[in-house]
Amino acid sequence: MKRFAVFVSGNGSNLQAIIDACQKGQIKSQLALVVSSTDKAYALERAEKAGIPSLVFNVRDYTNKQSVDRDIVIHLKQEKIDFIVLAGYMRFLTPFFVKQYAMKILNIHPSLLPAFKGGSGLKDAFTYGAKVTGVTVHFVNEKIDNGAIIFQHAVPIKDDDTLESLEERIHRVEHKIYPEAIALFEEDRLKVKGRKVFINGGPSGEC
Ligand code: GAR
Repeated sequence: MKRFAVFVSGNGSNLQAIIDACQKGQIKSQLALVVSSTDKAYALERAEKAGIPSLVFNVRDYTNKQSVDRDIVIHLKQEKIDFIVLAGYMRFLTPFFVKQYAMKILNIHPSLLPAFKGGSGLKDAFTYGAKVTGVTVHFVNEKIDNGAIIFQHAVPIKDDDTLESLEERIHRVEHKIYPEAIALFEEDRLKVKGRKVFINGGPSGEC
């Protein structure tokens, strides 16, 4: 059975959706570790409630970004982690880290990439006045929010939306599609050709 780690920095609603998907059997791999960039993340409480071990690596305790990532990698190797799922992890992974887990790191981002990259994609789309935004699940490469796209789902921005109402709809989509993407990944059904990701052997015979 594959083992994976979820990286968090905040509330952890996506972590919760992943925990629930593991419990339902939608995700078969073992969620073996939660890694947080801060000890303030509510996600850590969710991990504890679910009996999942967690570790905090705060960049402020290290001399530089490279050294924190080196330390995380040491722990991931000790825990025999096969792949990594970023779920609201608000730190940019160094190229060193990405090389260690090339094409084995997934991320979810609250916009239709490449629009509204970065740490406030949801708010940026809203304040920009976009009529449509959405959710992207993608592989992580060495550039910010740049890796090959696995899923994209559009979410319209309504005239009477507040940031909170939009966030709620974005989260609903995230909580549905992230476990689906993880399940496809663990079954080795995502085939990457250049920037394109194809779903292999699906029920409708894709690819
Ligand atoms: C999610 O909306 C996720 O897409 C976003 O952080 C939120 C975390 O929520 N990620 C990024 O913006 C990455 N650039 P959660 O802690 O409740 O899962």
